[in-house]
Amino acid sequence: MINVARSLLACWMGLSVAVYATAGSSNSLMDISSDGRLLVCSNRDNGSVSVIDLQEQKTVRQIPVGLKPEGVSFIGDSHHVAVAVYAEDAVVLVDSDSGKIIRRIRVFDEPYGVVSDRAGTRIFATLDYPGRVVEIEVATGVVKREIQAGRFLRGIALTSDQRQLLVTEYYSTRVQSIDLASGEVRDQWVGARTDNLCRQIAVHPTRPKAYLPHLRSRVKAVHGEGSIFPYLSVVDTVDEPGRRRKRIPMDAFLGNLVTANPWEVAVSPDGKQVYIVFSGTNDMFACRELDDNYREVEFRKHLQLGNNPRAVRVSPDNETVYVYNALDFNVVAYDTEKLERVGTITVCENPLGKQVLEGKRLFYSALQPMVGRRWISCSSCHPDGDADGRTWHNPEGLRNTQSFAGMAWTHPIHWSADRDEVQDFEHTIRGKLMQGRGLIEGPVQPQLGAPNAGLSPRLDALAAYSNSHKFTLSPYARGGLNEGAERGRTLFASAETRCATCHSGPFYSDSRPAVPAKIVRHDVGTGEQDDTEKMGPAYDTPTLLGLYRTAPYLHHGKALTLRDVLTSFNRDDRHGKTSHLTAQQIDDVVEFLKALPFQDPEIEAGQLGLRKVR
Ligand code: HEC
Ligand code: HEC
Repeated sequence: MINVARSLLACWMGLSVAVYATAGSSNSLMDISSDGRLLVCSNRDNGSVSVIDLQEQKTVRQIPVGLKPEGVSFIGDSHHVAVAVYAEDAVVLVDSDSGKIIRRIRVFDEPYGVVSDRAGTRIFATLDYPGRVVEIEVATGVVKREIQAGRFLRGIALTSDQRQLLVTEYYSTRVQSIDLASGEVRDQWVGARTDNLCRQIAVHPTRPKAYLPHLRSRVKAVHGEGSIFPYLSVVDTVDEPGRRRKRIPMDAFLGNLVTANPWEVAVSPDGKQVYIVFSGTNDMFACRELDDNYREVEFRKHLQLGNNPRAVRVSPDNETVYVYNALDFNVVAYDTEKLERVGTITVCENPLGKQVLEGKRLFYSALQPMVGRRWISCSSCHPDGDADGRTWHNPEGLRNTQSFAGMAWTHPIHWSADRDEVQDFEHTIRGKLMQGRGLIEGPVQPQLGAPNAGLSPRLDALAAYSNSHKFTLSPYARGGLNEGAERGRTLFASAETRCATCHSGPFYSDSRPAVPAKIVRHDVGTGEQDDTEKMGPAYDTPTLLGLYRTAPYLHHGKALTLRDVLTSFNRDDRHGKTSHLTAQQIDDVVEFLKALPFQDPEIEAGQLGLRKVR
């Protein structure tokens, strides 16, 4: 019986291969139309999508779509493209032939990955922070369904039978399968507790396999050889006993060739080739897919790529593999047989300026002079300047990774304000964590005191990039503050709670850049909450902007919710006064905090004549 069913299935799937093209089936920052004529890629740094004519091997147009576009997908076999515009909370449909915007579809927050069904009638997008999938009807642009499926969803793929959606959680790498008929989560494949930063998932066209690139963050080992590891995980997508999820360590895949920061994986439409790109070591493994449930893939060739490769796709005829070097602003083509370079296509001009580009390349680099041990780069813990969702066991105590948004306005930096400029991260580069040669020639100045700025143009570039991150507005304040948040705002500003005495100004912090640095720290009773703390008990006042998406809280990351910060972690009223507040009032303050920022803080900062670090 089972065998009959199996062979029927195999037969059905075999039939479907002929008509199956991968356009749109797995999320990526790049996609190829099913007729093989066009390639699109999203330019996160300049807010556009580039359309490449693959016959002419050139970019034929750039279509502005909005801030930080991420996933792109051709819709069915058309030349229409869906783009997830991350920082503008919109899925934008464009016509890649004419360059026209067909429609902008508002979604709640942070669309990241997008795929289309084969018929081109529906598209599905993951919403990162809210952990939702939205199903959009292409003809009308109407959001037909929203499915809650965990937290921070990025990867998304549609299985070849078009019945299941596979989605991945960014910070846990958990894969979930959503049954499209019922809209329910039917199955899940959990990773190891240390698994982290999974942006993408790709399905095999005929076999029940899905591939996901990710890393592993071992927060208890804060040194170059032990903290960050690259993986390709393979999931058996069948709903039967014995289905597995296995991790293939990419740093041990080819002898001792260590790679860093896997970003995307591609499976060729014939299912025979698998490619994985590494954005830290700037390279790629080309592999053969094996019909072997243990080994899964076999090494073919290691290719050195350009700067910060973030996407890879194979043409529908299986003959060409395209790699997107995000910080060279180009797409490079290789023939899949010899794996030799056959073309290079510029997708856009450098929109970042020379200095920030140089800094960004260094920030993403897991090579010298930044790093001696290849596994790690600044971006392994600060991807795109955001947090990695982890609390590291640093020598000074527990330290929750912070986002860089607004950092230029809120120096000094670090929870303990023990550094006054990003150039002080020369100490991190040369230290145990990264073991790099470093960027300064000659002696390094201390973390506080004499400046490290001005000693190395490249270090100054790293700082300029790090300081370039801005806030996006809270999705909870789209129509302005709601009633609860307004009440919370009044409580926050009251003399009784004292919140606004430390969390002051447009960035809700009393940290301001100054020369020489002005260090203000407060003991709010949180230092005693961690036995391993060596520096406390006073900390720099953190900004409160963007809190809605940065749980857990406090330097030690022990407060899981904002309510916890105000209650169980403030029992003796040393962190503002909260003990007199009713449960409703606490909710109101939380409602207010979740709504931050509800206006662009840089506008107010400009009006007040505040300075930021360059
Ligand atoms: C192993 C993970 C890891 C790596 C790698 C890493 N960081 Fe960090 N970073 C952290 C953590 C954790 C914190 C919070 C530490 C603290 O405040 O004491 C942090 C804090 C920072 C801050 C301060 C943010 C703020 O708002 O105060 C900056 C700036 C920063 N890192 C830059 C860098 C740069 C530049 C590199 C590469 C040279 C780098 N980091 C590498 C984990 C990492
Ligand atoms: C005396 C100065 C001071 C006052 C008053 C104060 N805070 Fe804080 N706040 C801090 C400091 C310092 C920290 C960092 C403490 C830590 O991480 O251990 C902090 C952290 C926080 C955090 C966590 C931020 C994060 O990113 O994890 C929140 C939320 C917060 N404060 C809200 C409030 C509210 C609401 C009030 C009023 C009830 C308040 N604070 C009053 C100084 C203050």
